[in-house]
Amino acid sequence: MKYPARVKLIDVGPRDGLQNEKQPVPAAVKIELVQRLQNAGLKEIEVTSYVSPKWVPQMADNAEVMAGITRDSGVLYSVLTPNMKGFEAAVASKPDEIVVFGAASEAFSQKNINCAIAESIERFAPVVQATLDAGIAVRGAISCTVGCPYEGEIAPEKVAYVARLMKDIGVQRVDVADTIGVGTPIKVQKALEAALQHFDIAHVSGHFHDTYGQALSNTLAALEVGVWNFQSSVAGLGGCPYAKGATGNVATEDVVYLLQGLGIETGIDLDRLIDAGQFISEHLGRPTQSRVAKALLTKRAG
Ligand code: HMG
Ligand code: MG
Repeated sequence: MKYPARVKLIDVGPRDGLQNEKQPVPAAVKIELVQRLQNAGLKEIEVTSYVSPKWVPQMADNAEVMAGITRDSGVLYSVLTPNMKGFEAAVASKPDEIVVFGAASEAFSQKNINCAIAESIERFAPVVQATLDAGIAVRGAISCTVGCPYEGEIAPEKVAYVARLMKDIGVQRVDVADTIGVGTPIKVQKALEAALQHFDIAHVSGHFHDTYGQALSNTLAALEVGVWNFQSSVAGLGGCPYAKGATGNVATEDVVYLLQGLGIETGIDLDRLIDAGQFISEHLGRPTQSRVAKALLTKRAG
């Protein structure tokens, strides 16, 4: 089996990881988390989202967080936005990349962004155009690519359909997300292959939540089809407010450990990453969800 020689990880902890937290997390903590992630060697960080604060109150401090981070020229800072209102606020914060987010499930699209898939694409189109005109990169997240909390199993054809619509409006790369973590390796490979009908291998990433404990297996399955971009959250933070019961993304620490074991280059310092995970876990007052961090912290203590 030939795996990619290197992998790029996007830590989505500050955004996906924290968006579901009930207690407000101070902007200063989010800013320090971003700093610790870049110190650990992350080259891409999803910082925040420009969405309705009524829908996702935790992200209401988006501009403050973006203004507070100390940027490293080698790091790409991305933000989410679903519409032009969000774009206008986001662009003022000068992100390196803007992420529109749709779904392969009609029901999830309705619950998450209050519109049908076709309508979401109509809303994204001017966002994508304005983003490209501003010289900013643009990514598209596709939720529920294997399963949906409302519709159940999702056919790969639906993933291909949304990937094509995103490609047609100018989205440069896509995330194939298993929002509720129900995927298993072959299903995830099929979802990735569906996106790969419209985007090349450098422009498709895996975004796996770990609700059913399958995310590392799914990561390995994605590596087998050549995917080398992945999203993960430090300490396994997170969940989507519109996917009840879904837990966080696969922990970045666990993915890094897996990749190191396979001899795959990530540029990430695992010890520093574990420290970043401890920082945010201590702030949230609960243990890390990363198995690797737990194991290595126990070893450190001994
Ligand atoms: P809506 O109610 O249909 O929107 O919501 P609207 O256009 O009718 O506006 C309603 C109100 O929201 C208005 O304010 C707007 O100004 C305001 P009011 O007049 O009532 O005071 N508004 C905004 N405010 C700030 N920023 C904006 C914005 N847009 C409208 N951008 C909307 C539609 C899309 C806005 C709403 O559904 C929403 O914000 N949804 C966001 C949901 C979300 O953030 N979900 C989590 C991120 S996706 C995710 O986690 C999945 C992912 O990780 C991949 C995976 O795992 O699957 C990416
Ligand atoms: Mg997610």
